[in-house]
Amino acid sequence: MGGLPRRATFIKQEISDGVPTLILDSGNLFTKKVLSEPALENAVRKGELILRAMETMGYKAAAVGEMDLYLGRENLDRLAGSTSVKFLSANLKSANGRPVYSPYTITTVGKIKVGIFGLTSRDVDVKMMEQRFPGVWVDDPITTASALLPKLRKKTDLIVALTHIGVGKDKELARSVKGIDVIVGGKSRTWLKNPLQVRSTLITSGYFQGRAMGRLFLSFRGKHAGWTGGNRIDFLKEQLQVLEKGGDVLPGVPGDREGLTRELDKARSMTRIDGDMITLTERFGDDRQIASFIRDYRKELKKQAQARVVESVTSDTPDRYLGSKACVDCHRTRSAFWAGTAHARALSALVPKGAEADHDCLPCHVTGYLKPTGYTPAAPRPDLVNVQCEACHGKGSLHVSSPDIYGLIKMPPASICLGCHIADHDDDFDYIRDRRLVCEDL
Ligand code: HEC
Ligand code: HEC
Ligand code: HEC
Ligand code: HEC
Repeated sequence: MGGLPRRATFIKQEISDGVPTLILDSGNLFTKKVLSEPALENAVRKGELILRAMETMGYKAAAVGEMDLYLGRENLDRLAGSTSVKFLSANLKSANGRPVYSPYTITTVGKIKVGIFGLTSRDVDVKMMEQRFPGVWVDDPITTASALLPKLRKKTDLIVALTHIGVGKDKELARSVKGIDVIVGGKSRTWLKNPLQVRSTLITSGYFQGRAMGRLFLSFRGKHAGWTGGNRIDFLKEQLQVLEKGGDVLPGVPGDREGLTRELDKARSMTRIDGDMITLTERFGDDRQIASFIRDYRKELKKQAQARVVESVTSDTPDRYLGSKACVDCHRTRSAFWAGTAHARALSALVPKGAEADHDCLPCHVTGYLKPTGYTPAAPRPDLVNVQCEACHGKGSLHVSSPDIYGLIKMPPASICLGCHIADHDDDFDYIRDRRLVCEDL
């Protein structure tokens, strides 16, 4: 989500020249992992924000990804029904064999009628599906596409498969099903600067978490008669110049002017493709409108969290989180040391972004996130914000009542740290070095 404002800037720049553009997403829009039940409400809210941003950016359609399914049938239906972005999947089917969402959509881009159909991965957790998407199954993508293609081909000039099946399967699809012009794939995080060509199908792939955007220029010359890489045309032009200056052309290129010109004309008569993958670095800057959507969304989250604040857990569960205040009396010097570390201020890192109640951020910036008696969205406890003693040493109530009987984790292992210090947020974590910095007896 943090990448949306940059993505919007990129897209605005791309479409500003007026060249007809089709903006697509290959799926898993809402989450990259299976969320627990309490996290779903927040994911749906975030989903609404993402869709609003995508509509504003001009997205036409998105494939239904397998992770999207774990939001649950009701939630996904609600999201799909709330937006002009088409959710496409031809192979996600009800028991009676009918597609759950639109199998395809047809849209006109410039003068070209484009048919776009969606495919979802079969790589789904059957138990989760039974729970959250009952009665729905994922049919084989290839047989589904074969059945759909002839019909769609008749109605359109160009066919795009929007898939979330991985690039390996995309290749198989291109080999087995005739008539797909372009596959816009996802799932496998393949970095494809230039599209692959398998038979007469181009395969492109989205990168993960919108960190980069794939761009494919297709320059049609009248009727589509096969693809030719833009770099090949440029190369042949260059060779022609070399020849005209009396130089030697490279091997594999016709050595006479006539032959080379013929080769170049042939290449030019086909549809020129220029692919690229653009990393969304900070040079793109944040789009103001999309950034303001995110600000409003986070403001709303904060308002809700405030309404739900629970000062402390009064339940009589004997084993519970207490917060670091409960440790001070007996561990004075460690408490003083901890208070000086970044962990003791972890929530304030979120303040400049207004993300203090954003559940994309909270799991690692509070204590006991979503654990029983820990910090939860339903009952946020101010005494459990920041990364406190118990985030590393475990729930403290039993220990506090009888330290002689109940010990705590003496030396929190790397696995605890790595619950938060994952590469996405800390690419330089070193347990041996870093563990000496977090908890010292002064
Ligand atoms: C998976 C755990 C995790 C999540 C989720 C997470 N963070 Fe962090 N965050 C960390 C860790 C670990 C560090 C410390 C990084 C370091 O030591 O360099 C950190 C540090 C930070 C810092 C301060 C260091 C800096 O780079 O300036 C900010 C600001 C921050 N996070 C903001 C956020 C925001 C905003 C979100 C939600 C969009 C978020 N974090 C979500 C784990 C996380
Ligand atoms: C970020 C994780 C982290 C936090 C937060 C943290 N500790 Fe620790 N704690 C450790 C690690 C790691 C060690 C072992 C350090 C070492 O190698 O000396 C440790 C050691 C200790 C020990 C000594 C255990 C022994 O060997 O007898 C005590 C007591 C302790 N911590 C108490 C606290 C208290 C009280 C707080 C909160 C005020 C706290 N810790 C916060 C990670 C943490
Ligand atoms: C009533 C006093 C008291 C309170 C309150 C207290 N501790 Fe302790 N803690 C002790 C004693 C006593 C020991 C054993 C010290 C020793 O053997 O050196 C101990 C040991 C520990 C150890 C070492 C683990 C072990 O089993 O030896 C950790 C970690 C620890 N405490 C963390 C905490 C944390 C976190 C809190 C707050 C939630 C806390 N303590 C609150 C008295 C207390
Ligand atoms: C609950 C999540 C969480 C756990 C568990 C956790 N950390 Fe952190 N850690 C953070 C966050 C978030 C920050 C950044 C806080 C900030 O900058 O505001 C951070 C910051 C740090 C920093 C300071 C980095 C800096 O550049 O200032 C060190 C060092 C560190 N953690 C080491 C550890 C070690 C070692 C462990 C395990 C013993 C551990 N952390 C466990 C979330 C966690």
